[in-house]
Amino acid sequence: QPIFLSDYRPPAYRVTRTELTFDLDPHATRVKARLHIERHPEHEAGTPLELDGERLVLKRIAIDGQPLEPDEYQVGEAGLVVHRVPKAFLLDTEVEIAPDGNTALSGLYRSSGMFCTQCEAEGFRRITFYPDRPDVMASFSTTVIGDAEREPVLLSNGNPVERGELPGERHFVTWEDPHPKPSYLFALVAGDLRKVEDAFTTMSGRDVTLQIWVEEENLDKTEHAMASLKRAMRWDEQTYGREYDLDLFMIVAVNDFNMGAMENKGLNIFNSAAVLTHPRTATDAAFQRVEGIVAHEYFHNWSGNRVTCRDWFQLSLKEGFTVFRDQCFSADINSAPVKRIEDVAFFRTAQFAEDAGPTAHPVRPDHYIEIGNFYTLTIYEKGAEIVRMLSNLVGKEAFRRGSDLYFERFDGQAVTIEDFVGCMAEASGQDFEQFMRWYSQAGTPQIDAHGEYDYANAEYRLILRQRTPATPGQPEKQALHIPVRLGLVGTKSGRDLPLTLEGETLGTDTVIHLREEEQEFLFTEVSEAPVPSLLRGFSAPVKLHFPYSREDLAFLQAHDTDGFNRWDAGQRLSLLALDDLIAAHRNGVEKVMDPRVVEAFRVLLEAQPDDKAILAQMLTLPSEAYIAEQQPLVDVDAIHAARTFVRQGLALALRDDFLRIYRENQDDAPYAPEPEQIARRSLKNVALAYLMAIEDEDAVQLAREQFEADHNMTDVRHALTLLVHSSRSDIADPALKTFGETWAHDPLVMDQWFAIQVTRPQPDVLDRVRFLMAHPAFSLKNPNKVRALIGTFANQNPVNFHRADGAGYRLLADTVIELNRLNPEIAARLVTPLTHWARFDEDRQALMKGELERIRAEKLSPNVYELVEKALA
Ligand code: ARG
Ligand code: ZN
Repeated sequence: QPIFLSDYRPPAYRVTRTELTFDLDPHATRVKARLHIERHPEHEAGTPLELDGERLVLKRIAIDGQPLEPDEYQVGEAGLVVHRVPKAFLLDTEVEIAPDGNTALSGLYRSSGMFCTQCEAEGFRRITFYPDRPDVMASFSTTVIGDAEREPVLLSNGNPVERGELPGERHFVTWEDPHPKPSYLFALVAGDLRKVEDAFTTMSGRDVTLQIWVEEENLDKTEHAMASLKRAMRWDEQTYGREYDLDLFMIVAVNDFNMGAMENKGLNIFNSAAVLTHPRTATDAAFQRVEGIVAHEYFHNWSGNRVTCRDWFQLSLKEGFTVFRDQCFSADINSAPVKRIEDVAFFRTAQFAEDAGPTAHPVRPDHYIEIGNFYTLTIYEKGAEIVRMLSNLVGKEAFRRGSDLYFERFDGQAVTIEDFVGCMAEASGQDFEQFMRWYSQAGTPQIDAHGEYDYANAEYRLILRQRTPATPGQPEKQALHIPVRLGLVGTKSGRDLPLTLEGETLGTDTVIHLREEEQEFLFTEVSEAPVPSLLRGFSAPVKLHFPYSREDLAFLQAHDTDGFNRWDAGQRLSLLALDDLIAAHRNGVEKVMDPRVVEAFRVLLEAQPDDKAILAQMLTLPSEAYIAEQQPLVDVDAIHAARTFVRQGLALALRDDFLRIYRENQDDAPYAPEPEQIARRSLKNVALAYLMAIEDEDAVQLAREQFEADHNMTDVRHALTLLVHSSRSDIADPALKTFGETWAHDPLVMDQWFAIQVTRPQPDVLDRVRFLMAHPAFSLKNPNKVRALIGTFANQNPVNFHRADGAGYRLLADTVIELNRLNPEIAARLVTPLTHWARFDEDRQALMKGELERIRAEKLSPNVYELVEKALA
């Protein structure tokens, strides 16, 4: 039952205005809807009215005040059909829904005693009968009636226009949202909430009230989100000329939420993990994540809400663009190269794996069964990479002209990716016909490059060949337009050489355009032998192979002017050494540390760093997951052994340097989530991790002191993790106990407590996972808990998840089967590690497929069904 992009038809009926009344009750909420409906002139009279609706009990239905006879309409599993309707009319319905029984957390549900909603993509149909598609946009008026004591706060989109008391200790608030919006942006929140309030004056002088609504005990965790919101509002004015458009902007924190957050018009709803921070409960990474997500949701007000998607195939139109916007925002207010390194490291690990697996799909898919499965790294992050390429191709100014054009021309409309790219073409005069293939072709393109230096003629010949591997449903691929930013670094001078290509002088850093399958670029007047620095800044989301020697890589790590490529050269160097060690481990040969890696690290440690955050990144080895991504056949044990061996080798050889770095970057200043402090902490903690790799007494003592000093969560969590992952259970166990008792009341900290334990490399961890699943702080109904415990175990503990006896797989499959009934969206996400079975040895393949088949034998939700089918196809 897949849906195809090619089947898109404009809606036969539009809703211009939607008036809702909610009479809230945990078991039986009544929803009255009055819809102002018009037939689209292109559709003939007699076209039946079809509305989506799921799990709704219809109580009343009338057209223009006339109740319908039973033979005038039909209610089915998926919705309601009214056989004959006038050209323009009022439809009144009343339905009953049960928020308490809604464990899927889609539609109207309850979280920690409050009512809240999640409607994207297709949750609104679980609230009332409606054309639940993004190209139907209406103004909304929403009256929320609740219990005066249990729900003193009643929120919805827009501005509050009326409130009052009702009999039986009830009260109501009416909200009016003047901006036409699709149903997926609807929101309602009701409960016993407290607010923190602030104000913002927009560039044109409009005063906006900002509110963050939380449970009382979280009032002290909103400061950072509020500061981030104000920074984001200013940034969008300055960078895109976009201003906020209502008098009120609200954020609500809820504990049970499937995703990070949701950009509902004027009423963003956040997973509490994506908004609450406090120095004692949240790490630096969490502070930065909150900053990014608050900005992301705010930016959607234009890229998503004012201009929305015509259909869900266009999801990346709003998500790819908005991720690009939030990445640029974070880069601007933190360290830009570090932000890029972090984003690319994540992208190359997780999105590359998705692109290489059975669920690989284009950034604009052409079919799907369940849209909930398409909130993916490909749609979001690869989509953002495409927008980044566009922005680099047209340049800053044309990009701004193009986005201005896009926002102006399509304001209030539901549009397509072509509309967006078309604006960029118009603003720049460039042609993106070939470029559009980035949206339709799945899979990670691979560039094989090689180069030759001709001394006699002072020429450097660079040959690039591109190939995109086949992906499910797409056996043949066409050549893409790939922008490759590069420089040639002179091996004598250590400097970027001036570039001359086909007689044109191009400065020392340029972009060449690979459009053919194979292309040759001849650089002339190259005065010394160069090492090419290719794909600077990760200028395209591809895998680039170049036969670099280890000497080349050490050279680039020391001399490249591009911070990103300097880091990447180090990663490539480490990967080469790790490859050898993985092979040695598999062949039972003694492992030897590559002295060139030690030397490269020594150079890094001994230089005066200009950016400590970059240094911390450079000192970090590729993750086990990224190493695995590079291997044709993943051997988790060999990877773990090899990486551990390198960490220990570096720690032994450079112990004094790591100790010095640790001491130099100790900090007693009061905690602030600022780049400078964050950089010092990350550098110090990287050093501590190396020292703990050999677990000598000094290191253990330092970790213990750092834990006990209890200065901030970044340091505490890091120290505790190192202790728990070490062999020193004599220190780790009491520390873990103290931590668990201290924070038993704080669910977000308990999530971290779970994650720390289930990432232990020790073989007894599976018992620990089982034990923790029975812990009172754990609940399968809470997505954060599932992610912290089961998700973390399956994705971040490869050695134990991939145990040879299959017990890790079994545990995951058991959980998926249970969650399939409770929360299909979360269940489907959890299946992912099993879908990558093809990357492993035959025994593991059989075990993983066995578990997938066991899942398939269940009565499955469309979400889990779609993934398991693809994985077993
Ligand atoms: N639009 C939201 C965001 O990216 C995510 C909503 C996801 N919804 C879902 N059902 N998966 O900010
Ligand atoms: Zn988004």
